Amino acid sequence: MEGSSNGNHHHHTDGGATTQMNHFRPTKPGGGGGGRSRVSRIQTPPCTEFDKAYFQSYSHVGIHEEMIKDRVRTETYRSAILQHRSHIEGKVVVDVGCGTGILSIFCAQAGAKRVYAVDASAIALQASEVVKANNLSDKVIVLHGRVEDVQIDEEVDVIISEWMGYMLLYESMLGSVIVARDRWLKPGGLILPSNAVLYMAPVTHPDRYAESIDFWRNVYGIDMSPILPLAKQCAFEEPCVETISGESVLTWPHVVKHVDCYTITYQELQSVTASFKFQSMMRAPLHGFAFWFDVEFSGPANNEEASSLTEPPKTNPSGSHRRKRAHPDEALVLSTAPEDPPTHWQQTMVYFYDPIDVEQDQIIDGSVTLTQSKENARFMNIHLEYASGGRSFVKECVLR
Ligand SMILES: C[S@@+](CC[C@H](N)C(=O)[O-])C[C@H]1O[C@@H](n2cnc3c(N)ncnc32)[C@H](O)[C@@H]1O
Repeated sequence: MEGSSNGNHHHHTDGGATTQMNHFRPTKPGGGGGGRSRVSRIQTPPCTEFDKAYFQSYSHVGIHEEMIKDRVRTETYRSAILQHRSHIEGKVVVDVGCGTGILSIFCAQAGAKRVYAVDASAIALQASEVVKANNLSDKVIVLHGRVEDVQIDEEVDVIISEWMGYMLLYESMLGSVIVARDRWLKPGGLILPSNAVLYMAPVTHPDRYAESIDFWRNVYGIDMSPILPLAKQCAFEEPCVETISGESVLTWPHVVKHVDCYTITYQELQSVTASFKFQSMMRAPLHGFAFWFDVEFSGPANNEEASSLTEPPKTNPSGSHRRKRAHPDEALVLSTAPEDPPTHWQQTMVYFYDPIDVEQDQIIDGSVTLTQSKENARFMNIHLEYASGGRSFVKECVLR
């Protein structure tokens, strides 16, 4: 875990805004070609110094402890594995980024014939010991190396991976899942999770603003308001990973990106743009935008029809929006939404320097572009343009 913000650039047309980011789970670009070519035709992206630092960060036990203790995360994966037992029993699985080996072991417990547990971090050595301690060495084969570099001499029936980063794409390990899919997955094979959706929504958060900014107006009776501009910059220049309450969200969310793990290409992930138009459900100071995601665990064949995530919205006419599981036999969903139980991903907030007062029904529109940073493919550049009440703004920040 680290929290660094360094001078990034933001321009504002009127007023202005920017953000503050801290991050814990690093990022992975990935590579390989789009289509389902076979091994020899897929290019292996080089392992950069950034990648080495990334894998190094996963050698610490704390990061794994945090993920495993996130029961919403870990239990949803376990339930999804059990729900898809019939696709796993007697089958060959690859676990992309196995960490401590937990998901590989769940798959072995669900009856997998063989599980390739791949991790480039030194945590793979621990995974290997854990597999031994649980007498699963005949089933779980731990490969210490990058998914892009290891050799697996058979096709696999199932790919499992926990690849999601902050704002879904930040830790873009998804590129490595794409490499694994295009190299090893049998036609009709299963990918867990199968789909993901990134959402955004406008948020009011007066307490957060008061504690970081208004605080300086009166400090033990001293007027410290000259510090306000610096306080705003330090608090809100970069995106913030924090838990917000569902009550802070001013409207239904908009979909920024749908990811279908069966078909997504690496190219598609390099830059994502979405436009939005929100109508505030109440009068409130607008402090920024929140981003969060869901992932869904559906089967291969019925992926299209079973995916409620990719359905058009039922609840709201304006085209974005959330779904809920209508039936218990529908695909399991791991949600990181503000109104759902908290996870270690929390939400990612992009705050403005100054709030915008919006009336009920007031429109907030604009667009957001997320691009892999050129500086480090594991960082994500966020470019936001938004307008409300006749004023428009631009904010750029980096999730690093
Ligand atoms: C978010 S952790 C998940 C660990 C474990 N699957 C779990 O659920 O607890 C992601 C893991 O993937 C590994 N990883 C990321 N990209 C990889 C790649 N290209 N090749 C091999 N391992 C990778 C990291 O080292 C890290 O241990």
